[in-house]
This record gives sequence, C-alpha cells and structure tokens, in this order.
Amino acid sequence: MESASRQTVQPISETAESYVGLSARDASGAVRSAQEPVPQALSVVIMAAGKGTRMKSTRPKVLHRLAGRALLAHVVGTAAQLLPRQMVVITGHGAIEVEAALAVLIRAGDQFDAKNLSCVRQEPQLGTGHAVQQAVPVLPDDGVCLVLNGDVPLIQADTLQALVASCGADKLALLTVVMPDATGYGRIVRSGNAVQAIVEHKDASAALREIREIYTGVMAVPNRLLKPWLARLSNDNTQNEFYLTDIVKFAVVDGVSVVAQQTTDTAQVDGVNSPVQLAQLERTHQLRQAHALMEAGVRLTDPARFDLRADSRGTCELVCAQDVEIDLGCIFEGRVSLGQGARIGAHCIIANARIEAGAVIHPFSHIDGEVLGVQVGQGAMVGPFARLRPGAHLGEDVHIGNFVEVKNSTLAQGAKANHLTYLGDATVGERVNIGAGTITANYDGANKHRTVIEADVHIGSNSVLVAPVTIGAGGTVGAGSVVTKSTPPGALTVVRGKTVGVEGWIRPVKR
Ligand code: UD1
Ligand code: CA
Repeated sequence: MESASRQTVQPISETAESYVGLSARDASGAVRSAQEPVPQALSVVIMAAGKGTRMKSTRPKVLHRLAGRALLAHVVGTAAQLLPRQMVVITGHGAIEVEAALAVLIRAGDQFDAKNLSCVRQEPQLGTGHAVQQAVPVLPDDGVCLVLNGDVPLIQADTLQALVASCGADKLALLTVVMPDATGYGRIVRSGNAVQAIVEHKDASAALREIREIYTGVMAVPNRLLKPWLARLSNDNTQNEFYLTDIVKFAVVDGVSVVAQQTTDTAQVDGVNSPVQLAQLERTHQLRQAHALMEAGVRLTDPARFDLRADSRGTCELVCAQDVEIDLGCIFEGRVSLGQGARIGAHCIIANARIEAGAVIHPFSHIDGEVLGVQVGQGAMVGPFARLRPGAHLGEDVHIGNFVEVKNSTLAQGAKANHLTYLGDATVGERVNIGAGTITANYDGANKHRTVIEADVHIGSNSVLVAPVTIGAGGTVGAGSVVTKSTPPGALTVVRGKTVGVEGWIRPVKR
C-alpha cells in the first residue's frame, strides 16, 4: 500500500500576507479598534418583553434574525463590549423562547462574556417604566444603569460608551436623534437648551408634535437616582402605561441635569417593528460591512449585493488577504478566510471555509464546511456549480468542476474531478484524474467506508468505486467499471461487459 503521506493534502499554512477582517463584533461596534473599555460598575437593562404584533409572526420579535443572529444577540453582544458588571434582559412575550435562546448564546460563549447575564420576567407588560421596575430587585444601589431595547440591533458600543460617559455619576443621559418624520416617538421638549421632558406622541399637543428631536429609547442613569424615580411613576396618560420617559420630569424637579446626546446615525437607533424594517436594517448593515471590506482593499463588484452572516453558532468572521475579488450576489457565513488574490465568482455561498491564495471559485458554487470545515488549496479551481461539504480538503491546484460533490475527502495536489462526480469519504492522491460521472459508493446502508485512490490514477467515466476499496498508484480504471475489489499499482482494471461486434447483423423489420 502506498504511504499515506502521498495522499495527504499539503497543510494549509498561514501566509505572510496581511489580512483584513470583519467579524460580528467589528460590524456591530467599533470599540475593539478604539481603546479597550475598562470594566465598570455598569448595569445594562435590555427591554425585550414587547409583543411585536407588526411582525405577524409566532416567533418573538427579538429572536428574528439580522445577519444570521437574533436581534437580541446583536444588542447583548454590543452591550457586552462595554464590560458591564451585569446585563438584565426583561422578557415577557415569548419569554420561554427568548430565555432559551439566551441560554444557547451563553453556551456558545465566544460571542461574549455572558456570565453576568440574567433574565427578569415582566408579566403583564404595562409599559417601559414597568419593564425597568422589574429589574430593580437585581440592580445595585451604586453605579450606572444603561437602558437598551432588544429590537434595536445596530446600536454601537462607542455610541453607548459615550452616553455612559456623559451620564457621569450624577446626570440623566438620553440618546436622541432628529427624525425627518417623528410620528410615534417620544418628543424631546426643551426650554431654551435644557431638556424639560419627553412627551409621548399620543400624549403630545399639535405644537409638541412639530418637534423632530426624539428619544431613541436608550438612556444612562445612576442607579441611586433611577430607583426612587421608578417608584414615583404613574400610568396617568393616554395609554395607561408606566412610561420610563416620565423620569425626565422627576430629574428636572429634583434639579438633576439632563443631558441629551444626539446621534446623526439613525440606523444605530432604528428599531425593528415589521418585516420591511427588518429587511431595511439588514441592507444597511450589509452595506456597512461591504464598505468596511472595500476600505480594507477587498474588491466587491457590487456592495449592494454582498452578504456576511453568522452561522447557527453565531460565528461571523470574514478574513481577506490582499487582492481578493468577490463578484456580486455572494453569501458568506460563519468563519471564512480568503487568501491573497482569491477570486469568488458570482452567486457563491461559502460557509466555514478556508480558501487559499490564488484559488478561484467559479459562479454558483456552494461550499459549506459546517463544523469540520472546508479547505481549498492554493491555486485550486472550483465550480461552476460545485458543492463542497464538511471535511472537503482540496490541495494545491486541485480542480473541481461542475456538478461535483465532495464530502469528507482529501484531494492531493493537482488532482482533478471536472464533471458530474460524487467523492465521499475518499482519499485522492496527487495528479489523479477522475472521469465524468464517477461515484464513490461509500455507504452500504449502515456504515460509511473509505475509498483510496492513490497517486497518478486515472478513473474512467461513469465508474463506481464500491468502498472500502483502494485503487493502486498509477492504475487505470476503464470507463463504466463497477470496482468492488482493490487493484494493484499500475494495473488496468475494467469491470464491464466486453464490446461485441456482430458483423452483417440484420435489424428486425416491422411486419
Ligand atoms: C418608546 C419610548 C419613546 C421612544 C421610543 C423609541 C416610552 C414610554 N416611550 O416608545 O419615547 O421614542 O420608545 O423607540 O418609553 N417593552 C417592554 N415592556 C413593556 C413595553 C415595552 O419590554 O411593557 C419593550 C419593547 O419590547 C421594546 C421597548 O420596550 O423593546 C420599547 O417599547 P415600544 O413599545 O417599542 O416603545 P414605545 O413605548 O412605543
Ligand atoms: Ca412602539
């Protein structure tokens, strides 16, 4: 038997090239590249009890996905970048599902340090003030409370950091934005420059409704002030709700200064209430990711037709070396790296894969490494219409052509399977040529078996290699063979009926 080393794929080495990367964290917040936050006496309360009626879905609103991650996961992940001492999620509608989803995120672990994450139920839901009231028993008396919405996914850590900083230890800090159309929002009412109150749209007079500066739903407030203010809330308003926003009036009465921190980036404070809004924010987010990649030198044919999403484990990281080209309509998922000069053709889906330098993925290829991963070696060519599944390891200069599926198989340098082939649980040596329509029959109905094709073998078209089987080095398998026994090196193996030529044969004629 040939030494195994002849068939192993070259280890795919880290190249010395510089890489640029986009990860879930980078995309949702810039704090990593700014200065590292210091752990602080910060409590984050994330409101996620609302119904989300306009989603018209059985799924709780905060579990709808943007870029492959639940809306709430974006918010929790961003909040975690501030290194708070605790995060409290207020659950209500769909609480069981939402809490289960958070438990999964905590187990995933690498997305954020979730050891200080807890949930508090709000039942029934009597308004945002009532929501935060539920957290009071678990809030310490010192430190600052940052209130966030679980359905506002694109808020960024540096924005929050600045808001917490402007709260200091003694002020009420509100994140506000000027909206072209402020309908439905709480208006920031000022006297001169000083903030006097937030008045909800439904409670606002026609004059107040002219105000276009609105409260985004994000505030930072010292716990020592927040707690007594929450105790003073009433539901004496048009909606009979306990409005968190009423604490602004208490601050004014108590002589506490109210700071309004205005952002100009509306996408960061946009909430998701409907499928249309969800799709709009998805596009905004994707466009921002696309721009970040282009600014790092990646060539995208069309930034509006680019998607980078988290996989089911919440991992989202695209790392590109120099001179990477990505044609339109591609979707990347999980952790993908693209080596120097790699080119990705139009409409490819690539998940959890490592594509080495100079490799070309032709259009409409589907590459999904799941947990095992997929590796495509230097200068390899894949597709169009190829499918690489978990454990596909292609060495240097391997060619995988149209309608070829590769699963849990290694192909050594220069091996080629150019048309209509299934390679499952196979070890393919250097320079092997696999003819069109070849199938490794790896499954006997109960167990999977390996096919070993040693170096320099030629497999004729339409062959079936019934595993376990080894085709010896340098051998040739005749087209149409069904090979059930291992073959010696250098042999010609033909397993099929011989061609019979009957001379002078007369074809039957119709009577
Ligand atoms: C709130 C603000 C409003 C602001 C707007 C920004 C109040 C009273 N008003 O409006 O000034 O302009 O946000 O979007 O705070 N939630 C609960 N429990 C409840 C009610 C709501 O957890 O009982 C959650 C929702 O799930 C949502 C968030 O709180 O994540 C905001 O609720 P929503 O109803 O969207 O806000 P509004 O009250 O309309
Ligand atoms: Ca609302």
